[in-house]
Amino acid sequence: MAFLDKHKVIEKNATLLLVLSFLVVTIGGLVEIVPLFYLQNTIENVQGMRPYTPLELAGRDIYVREGCYLCHSQMIRPMRDEVERYGHYSLAAESEYDHPFQWGSKRTGPDLARVGGKYSNSWHVDHLSNPEAIVPESVMPKYAFLASTPITPDYIVDDMTANRVVGVPYTDDEIKNAAADFKAQANPDADSSGLIARYGNKVTVANFDGQPQLTEMDALIAYLQMLGTLVDFSTFTPDASR
Ligand code: HEC
Repeated sequence: MAFLDKHKVIEKNATLLLVLSFLVVTIGGLVEIVPLFYLQNTIENVQGMRPYTPLELAGRDIYVREGCYLCHSQMIRPMRDEVERYGHYSLAAESEYDHPFQWGSKRTGPDLARVGGKYSNSWHVDHLSNPEAIVPESVMPKYAFLASTPITPDYIVDDMTANRVVGVPYTDDEIKNAAADFKAQANPDADSSGLIARYGNKVTVANFDGQPQLTEMDALIAYLQMLGTLVDFSTFTPDASR
């Protein structure tokens, strides 16, 4: 057949075959991916979601820097064993303000998507300082140095501004008060009304590491204690139109 003869030309020429295959895959990919950027419901709006407070954002940076994601995922899959162990499956919206997201693909340790509120702050200090003291068979490294590494809000405005560039809706007010909010969240004796007004009354204000000094331990625990707590699953109903 004449048509097959023409196809023979492509099959016998590796470069041409490669170029044409690439073209086909590119078009197929674009058709599948491009609409996701325009669909309103790619990420449904879920009540309760808010950008990270400055201290939580700094804690998240430490989480990424220390490579916690190499052993911990943050995505509960909608399967019965996972939901029974960790709680409600993760929603896309819960990673809405994550750049980059922390879903992970490796679970040497448990999933952390809903670890917020599961343990006390002092449990986290003890566990992060020496995991084996709490769970003797743990292979998790010791992060005791975080409690002796002071942290300052020097770079937090740049951090929030960069997040705003990629779509996190930080307001001018939040960015202007970043340093004050950063310190207020770790100091229960300070006036935290501004912080609460900006980020909502679910924000945990505490001396997370139990020391007078503001350290990386404070920031990391502030972040961990917030994970998975923002959406109220007693009132959440998935959007049925999807
Ligand atoms: C080498 C792998 C590894 C790394 C890296 C690691 N962890 Fe873990 N993590 C584990 C294992 C294993 C467990 C389960 C045993 C235990 O509780 O120590 C665990 C448990 C935990 C728990 C308790 C979870 C629960 O639901 O009981 C938290 C919280 C935690 N890790 C936080 C972190 C943070 C934060 C970091 C980064 C600073 C980190 N881990 C880095 C392996 C790791």
